[in-house]
Amino acid sequence: MGKTWSPTSWQGFPAAQQPDWPDQADLDRALKQITSYPPLVFAGEARRLTTSLGHVAAGNAFLLQAGDCAESFEEFSAVDIREKLRVILQMAVVLTYSLGVPVVKVGRIAGQFAKPRSSPFEQVGDLMLPSFRGHIVNDATATQAARTPNPDRLVQAYHQSASTLNLLRAFTKGGFADLHRVHQWTQEFVTSSPEGERYEQLAEEIDRALRFMRACGVNTESTSTLHEVDVYTSHEALLLGYEQALTRQDSLTGSWYDCSAHMLWIGERTRQLDGAHVEFLRGVGNPIGCKVGPEASPEFVLEICEALNPNRIPGRLTLISRMGANKVEDSLRPLLRAARDAGHPIVWACDPMHGNTFTSQGGRKTRHFDDVCAEIAGFIRAHHAEQTWPGGIHVELTGNNVTECLGGADEILDEHLGDRYETVCDPRLNGRQSLDLAFRVAELMRAAGVA
Ligand code: PEP
Ligand code: CO
Repeated sequence: MGKTWSPTSWQGFPAAQQPDWPDQADLDRALKQITSYPPLVFAGEARRLTTSLGHVAAGNAFLLQAGDCAESFEEFSAVDIREKLRVILQMAVVLTYSLGVPVVKVGRIAGQFAKPRSSPFEQVGDLMLPSFRGHIVNDATATQAARTPNPDRLVQAYHQSASTLNLLRAFTKGGFADLHRVHQWTQEFVTSSPEGERYEQLAEEIDRALRFMRACGVNTESTSTLHEVDVYTSHEALLLGYEQALTRQDSLTGSWYDCSAHMLWIGERTRQLDGAHVEFLRGVGNPIGCKVGPEASPEFVLEICEALNPNRIPGRLTLISRMGANKVEDSLRPLLRAARDAGHPIVWACDPMHGNTFTSQGGRKTRHFDDVCAEIAGFIRAHHAEQTWPGGIHVELTGNNVTECLGGADEILDEHLGDRYETVCDPRLNGRQSLDLAFRVAELMRAAGVA
């Protein structure tokens, strides 16, 4: 790791998982264009998120990070964005009410396009094609032309992120997220389900509490925190040229911020301590995440903490554990202990998705709802044993009624997966499974005595 950092210093380090762009001049042109565009978020907003995550690190708040595995250039509409926001708001209400602490809401949204791949090529019939790397790079269609990385897609991803963020800001500040509308966040297909009814009861209790507050003389109409919510944006900072193009110096503090999103994370495949991703993210002021899989050692955790958060700023670093349901308890405990004993203020979040993916009998990539719950249960047990705070969850979901993950209250079976399997990458929880998960998390936290 070099001493001096600049937005380009990562270029002197090996960068894993970068696409093989066919024409350097085309790439440079696209990146130059993005460099000239306005930032998508402001440094002050990123700092506010760090402060909120600092409360999570201290055990006084809970992180809900959720959204698509990969956003799509095709599935891009006001309805899709609204439905995703609805389910995130519902989950947040359930968690806030049940845990009694603020829930910090961060979407995998408005920039979550780029995907790392286990292999750079894929055999399709007789063809050996470049792997699909997300719509910011290429298209999933199995032809050479569609799979060739196209830098125009970087510019399109910027514009889609800007529109998504614009709508998100309008929904969260313009009345849609008003707590007085808590009943209206339930989608039609959820209303009559057991989770939907359970949610309706909770919404009724919130209504009653609001009426009680008004009866006591509290003016709930003029209390802005009841009318508006903060939903922050995040994505995996994978394509370092794109991230560099949106990295700007804050005029207030002189620090550098990656203004493509409020929070950026490093994936499991790019977290090399001497690699370009760690080098790039150590220098930006945003809150940073890093995925931590079952191979991570306590030594690695201490080194990544030193690399990304040497000043030990609470909320600066979130470690996102993605171990697999069977491994989480044993694999996580030594890591929790190491960070705790070294006094690092970590936000620990549980990604119960990526360690539990398998191929169904019908050949589709899927996850079972029970494994997702089991991993969260193991995560909470590990924290309980080490007396650390299970700070949050990081999940892949959609508000839509898809059939991508098995199980859940509506018992999705192998033979149902083909009905509405719409993801462009990993399988997501649908609206009902997501709401159900929020209730399960609240129960697990209470049963462990941590909430
Ligand atoms: C992801 O979050 O979609 C992902 C690819 O995760 P991981 O880096 O943990 O495999
Ligand atoms: Co994924």
